[in-house]
Formats: sequence, structure tokens, C-alpha cells
Amino acid sequence: MIQIVDLHKTFGDNKVLTGINLTIPEGSTCVILGGSGSGKTVLMKHMIGLLKPDQGRVIVDGQDIVPLGDAVMEQVRRKFGMVFQAAALFDSMNVYQNVAFPLHEHTKLPEEKIHEIVRSKLDIMGLPPSVESKFPADLSGGMRKRVGLARAVVMEPKIVLYDEPTTGLDPITTDYVDEMILAAQEKLKVTSVVISHDIASAFNVADFIAFLSKGLIIEFGPPEQLRASTNPVVQKFLQTWFEKN
Ligand SMILES: Nc1ncnc2c1ncn2[C@@H]1O[C@H](COP(=O)(O)OP(=O)(O)O)[C@@H](O)[C@H]1O
Ligand SMILES: [Mg+2]
Repeated sequence: MIQIVDLHKTFGDNKVLTGINLTIPEGSTCVILGGSGSGKTVLMKHMIGLLKPDQGRVIVDGQDIVPLGDAVMEQVRRKFGMVFQAAALFDSMNVYQNVAFPLHEHTKLPEEKIHEIVRSKLDIMGLPPSVESKFPADLSGGMRKRVGLARAVVMEPKIVLYDEPTTGLDPITTDYVDEMILAAQEKLKVTSVVISHDIASAFNVADFIAFLSKGLIIEFGPPEQLRASTNPVVQKFLQTWFEKN
């Protein structure tokens, strides 16, 4: 679904990506692990064309998106749903209005149909109809995350990108978010890319883990393979994390 070939990106003299190769199969969940500042967000921004590489290809659903202009890129972005660290809901809108927003913006569907779609997405995220009339300020952090994901998938994207979805959350809310990522994969059959530095969460949700260090993917494979990695950088990352947690 996403294939990245020899991707390079430098800002000034900061060589952030120095030859990334990564293939994410359709329907799978791939977690990109790496230390803070290792270039995870920069890599993700290339996947939706928010950044253009100095060199390399980004093939999404069979199409190299690197040469595309803004207008076509806008169309390609419809294939994506995005979940950022902060849920970024509109505070002045209730849950229903928040989740329905992309449908109101991009479709001419009758309100009844929109309601049906919103309800089904909230249901997948385990949210009852009673939350529809609530405002973001009235919800717990975990509920806001769920609403954020319901909105991210309301246009039925093929791919969902999550940038640090569990950062700053307590362990219980982190578990909720992991469940929600798994629910989106199982029930909506999306391909998911999750940026994280939370190993437990990565092992929970990943079909594949890609480990980013010094501008390169230094390990790629199922979680067991990462755990068994003989790469000293990966070993140190795992060891440090387990000591802290
Ligand atoms: N738009 C930008 N302009 C210049 N430097 C950037 C830009 N975006 C990110 N960087 C730099 O790229 C590096 C990787 O950043 P980022 O991808 O955000 O790391 P992380 O792995 O924590 O998500 C950092 O050194 C950051 O300062
Ligand atoms: Mg980041």
C-alpha cells in the first residue's frame, strides 16, 4: 500500500533521512519506532506529500506521489486519515458535528445518511449514541482520542496515520488507544502507520515494526524479530525502555 524507495531529506546541514526503504503491505499495521528527533514525523509527512524529498520515491496505492502538484495531491490525501498527538477536535462543536465535519465539507449526502455513518464509526470506537451531543471539554482524554479516530476514518480512508497517539497518556488510556487502532484495522480493513516510541504499545498493535535511526531503517520485521535484534542500537533502545517502565 505504501512503498518508500531510497528516500533522502536534508534540512540545511541536518541530514534527517539518508536512504529510507520501507514497504507497508495492504491491511497491515506498521509501527515506526525511533528516538526523539530521529525523523519519524518527517518520514510520515512524506507519505502524505506534506514534504517533498530531495531524492527518492513515495509510492501510495501504486502511484508515485513525489512529482504530484497540490491539486492532485489533495485528491490523494483523501485516501488518508490522520490522528495526531493532540486529538485536535473543534471545541465549539459537539461530538456529532466533529465527526460529521469531513462529510459536511466533502460530500452532499443527506443528513440522515451522514448520521448513519457517524453512528457506525462511533460504534466501532465503542462510543454510545449518548456522546454525540457532548462537547470535547466534557470528555475524558481517552474518549477524545476515540472521537478523533472516528473522525479520521469517517471518509473511509485506505490508510490511517497516527503520530505518537499514546504520548502523554496514562497506561489505561494507552490501552484504549491500542484497542482502537486494532479495531480500525479489523473492522475497516485499513492499512495503518503508527509512529511511536512506546515499545509496549508497538508490540501490542504491530504486524511489522520499522526501527529508524540516523536516517535509516536499521531493523524491519514482525515484533519478535525486533525483540531478537542483534543490532546494538535496537538492543539499547529496548533495554533502556524496559528499565524505565
Ligand atoms: N520543517 C523542518 N525544517 C527544518 N528542520 C526540521 C523540519 N522538520 C523537522 N526538522 C528536523 O528534523 C529532525 C527530525 O524531526 P522529527 O521527524 O520531528 O523527529 P521525531 O522522530 O521526533 O518525529 C529534527 O532534527 C528536526 O529539528
Ligand atoms: Mg515526531
